[in-house]
Amino acid sequence: MEIKYNLKPASERRTEQFKPEGNVGFGKLRTDHMFLMDYRDGEWVDPRIVPYGPFEMAPGAMTLHYGQSIFEGAKAFKHDDGEIYTFRLNKNAQRMNRSADIVCIPNIDEQLQVDAINALIDVDRLWFPEQDGACLYIRPFIFATEDRLSVSPSEQYTFCVMLSPSGAYYSADGVNEGIRLLISTEFHRAVSGGTGASKAAGNYAASLRAGKAAAEYGAAQVLYLDSTNTQIEEVGAMNHFHILKDGTVIIPEFTDTILKSITSQSIMELGEQLGCEVRQETVMLDKFIADIEAGEIVEAGGFGTAAVVSPVSSYIFEDGRIVTVGDGSVGPRIKRIYQVYTDMQKGLMAAPEGWVQKVERVAPQG
Ligand SMILES: Cc1ncc(COP(=O)(O)O)c(C=O)c1O
Repeated sequence: MEIKYNLKPASERRTEQFKPEGNVGFGKLRTDHMFLMDYRDGEWVDPRIVPYGPFEMAPGAMTLHYGQSIFEGAKAFKHDDGEIYTFRLNKNAQRMNRSADIVCIPNIDEQLQVDAINALIDVDRLWFPEQDGACLYIRPFIFATEDRLSVSPSEQYTFCVMLSPSGAYYSADGVNEGIRLLISTEFHRAVSGGTGASKAAGNYAASLRAGKAAAEYGAAQVLYLDSTNTQIEEVGAMNHFHILKDGTVIIPEFTDTILKSITSQSIMELGEQLGCEVRQETVMLDKFIADIEAGEIVEAGGFGTAAVVSPVSSYIFEDGRIVTVGDGSVGPRIKRIYQVYTDMQKGLMAAPEGWVQKVERVAPQG
């Protein structure tokens, strides 16, 4: 499908490369344009790039009432050749369709999703924030637009892609200090048969209360357990992992209550290059805690696009008990995973075939 360009006049667009002074932070800035495509009469139509701005939407739009809305999150990086490269976008497109299936949204051809993102980045390439560790954060999302108040799948949707120039998550020295996680028996992110394996907007609304509770315990986020409070599932916006003293990385098995992190999948695929075995298994909470206390588990953390790897220094239970991983400092294996992964993203180390894709210069000028 051919993408139409309805761009801002040159006088209203960025004309020089964005070179911000301080760290621009995450998710606050926008670029000049967004990509839109609509679903009506049973098909996705009218792919277009237009100026970034508000949507016109009926108050009865079904997304506002029943939350039929899903999203993705990915990043693009600038390499030393001055070009912008995306990282595993096809995996995001695949997962968008999995999320869509879970909340009854019609799929979008994966290549079309990837093409839409590339076209938008190409148009707004001058917005890439030129500073150490920065990226263009990519936020594709789909929401129901039909003006109808019955609880059933909408027959109309909009697919939108927006970009946010974002700053480095960590300082130039690498990974930050570890965080504390609240092991919650009170809040649950997902149950079997529910929407946990999707990036459905409602999952994140439901996590806000748990996040507030975590803050009351001095924790950064909640470590979610399954609904029987016996197995470790994942963190609010990251998959959980731990590392045994022989270096094996263990990620909880992907079930229908866990989001299939692209970072986790990539770490599994990279195993050999990271010099360690990476495997998935069911992780029982009691054994996990006992193994930390016995020194069998030496590092732990979360995998996700935002931070790549976020080390966990300690866990706190609701009764105030604290369990510290090792001596609480960031371990060498986490540092290595972070280094290898970010070097691949930045083009400083060869990534497996197809992971890194150049954004071609095809947009109309002027
Ligand atoms: C619930 C949840 N789990 C895990 C992840 C990590 O997934 P990814 O590595 O694809 O960013 C995210 C973030 O996207 C998330 O929201």
